[in-house]
Amino acid sequence: MKKEYILPSLNEARRRNKDVSESVSFVLEDRYKGLGEGKYFYIITHGCQANQRDSETMAGLLHEMGYEMCDDEKKADVIIVNTCAVRQGAEEKVLGEIGALKRLKKEKPELIIALGGCMAQEEKSVRIIMEKYRQVDIIFGTHNITSLPKLLYEVLETKTRKIEVYSKMGEIIEDVPVTRFMSHKAWVNIMYGCDKFCSYCIVPYTRGKERSRNKEDIIYEVEQLVKDGYKEVCLLGQNVNAYGKDLHMDYTFGDLLNDVAKTNIPRIRFMTSHPWDFDDSMIEAIRNNSNIMPYIHLPIQSGNSAILKKMNRRYTREEYLALFDKLKEKLPGFSFTTDIIVGFPNESDEAFEDTLSAVEHCKYDNAFTFIFSKREGTPAALMEDSIDSKTKEERLQRLNERVAYYANLNNQRFKDQIVEVLVDGLSKRNAKVYSGYTPENKLVNFTGEDVKIGDIVKVKITEVMSFSLNGVKVE
Ligand code: SAH
Ligand code: SF4
Ligand code: F3S
Repeated sequence: MKKEYILPSLNEARRRNKDVSESVSFVLEDRYKGLGEGKYFYIITHGCQANQRDSETMAGLLHEMGYEMCDDEKKADVIIVNTCAVRQGAEEKVLGEIGALKRLKKEKPELIIALGGCMAQEEKSVRIIMEKYRQVDIIFGTHNITSLPKLLYEVLETKTRKIEVYSKMGEIIEDVPVTRFMSHKAWVNIMYGCDKFCSYCIVPYTRGKERSRNKEDIIYEVEQLVKDGYKEVCLLGQNVNAYGKDLHMDYTFGDLLNDVAKTNIPRIRFMTSHPWDFDDSMIEAIRNNSNIMPYIHLPIQSGNSAILKKMNRRYTREEYLALFDKLKEKLPGFSFTTDIIVGFPNESDEAFEDTLSAVEHCKYDNAFTFIFSKREGTPAALMEDSIDSKTKEERLQRLNERVAYYANLNNQRFKDQIVEVLVDGLSKRNAKVYSGYTPENKLVNFTGEDVKIGDIVKVKITEVMSFSLNGVKVE
């Protein structure tokens, strides 16, 4: 029997070419249809919004095969684990999880366990899973999602393990089925991959080169979402300001923002904007369209220019702060968040103090803070590091304390104000309380009558915390 594995190679994944990625249309082969009739699948998703959106594609494909989705792993005939590789902690969590699935597989030998996402793109992780986690039947890469029906078919036919991980992707696949997990907010990919190669980051290796979708496909997708009653889209890319550059066309992210705004979707967000190339046309588009939400995530990573250089971030402390000040001035009332890494190899006390002083300067609404995690295959993994982990933990704690202080300070402006909240559902903590987000991306928990998911309601803020607001619906 043919037993051919297609395994990942980080070396191959590192390579880039300037070719424009072709868009091709997906069609599900007839022989895969009906294969899942009467059967259930369950998906566990880790990582960023790109993974959330990919899980929706996986669900769409399985639905087309006749499977139904369930939220109980014991009931499932197929379990998909969509993994993240950005930090060691994320990987360990996944290994623990698939370790625990071994018992389920023993009780139900016909259960199929499939592992996808960014860990599947890493040589080392795939080797560990192949050797130590025999319960995993399918490993499929981020570029192989549309092969899932074929891989499931083959596992059912041959009862042998299948591994298909391409290290590179030269095309964009359109018209792939999707089952969106929410009915009021949607993720819309505008580009895939990343070419920035920040020295600490695994994403350019696990997601391949930057590939922009055609603007027509994006705008059509948003128009359909408007027709389906969606209230919000989040335009996704590792680095949305680079949109269109690989297509070698004179059409930028600013242009795309203007065109997406014309669809009249009530709320537009985007993730993530790298400080590099945050140009004036983007700022103008954001200013001129009231349905682009007043919220910008602008990762700084470090406030020290020498560390930024070692990180290969392509800006200095001064350049970042100048951009930040410009945005703050041109976009009044906006909220700003960031990402910060502490404990990058050999980060000195002074360098860390520079990060703290940048936080004092920017007074962010919130920051996602991480301790540097070594990613095999990235340049930073080979850098000498003499800083002990206790120092790194202490730095993280000091940083988090300042972040919480400014988060709280920023939230004070909402006290006693009436805000518009797009309702996500019942609060996770209290069944009588609803939750949703303001345009500034502030989480609001509130009480009120006649509230439905997807409504945009007016809420009076009665209480302000560092990371959420409490209120009462007013109409
Ligand atoms: N494309 C986005 C980031 C995606 S990863 C951007 O450039 O902003 C999300 C965040 O994870 C990064 O901003 C960074 O702060 C953090 N991160 C990435 N690699 C990391 C590593 N090796 N160790 C610790 N944090 C990391
Ligand atoms: Fe990673 Fe940098 Fe690309 Fe963001 S821009 S995904 S941090 S390499
Ligand atoms: Fe994680 Fe991959 Fe996203 S590494 S953060 S799931 S791109």
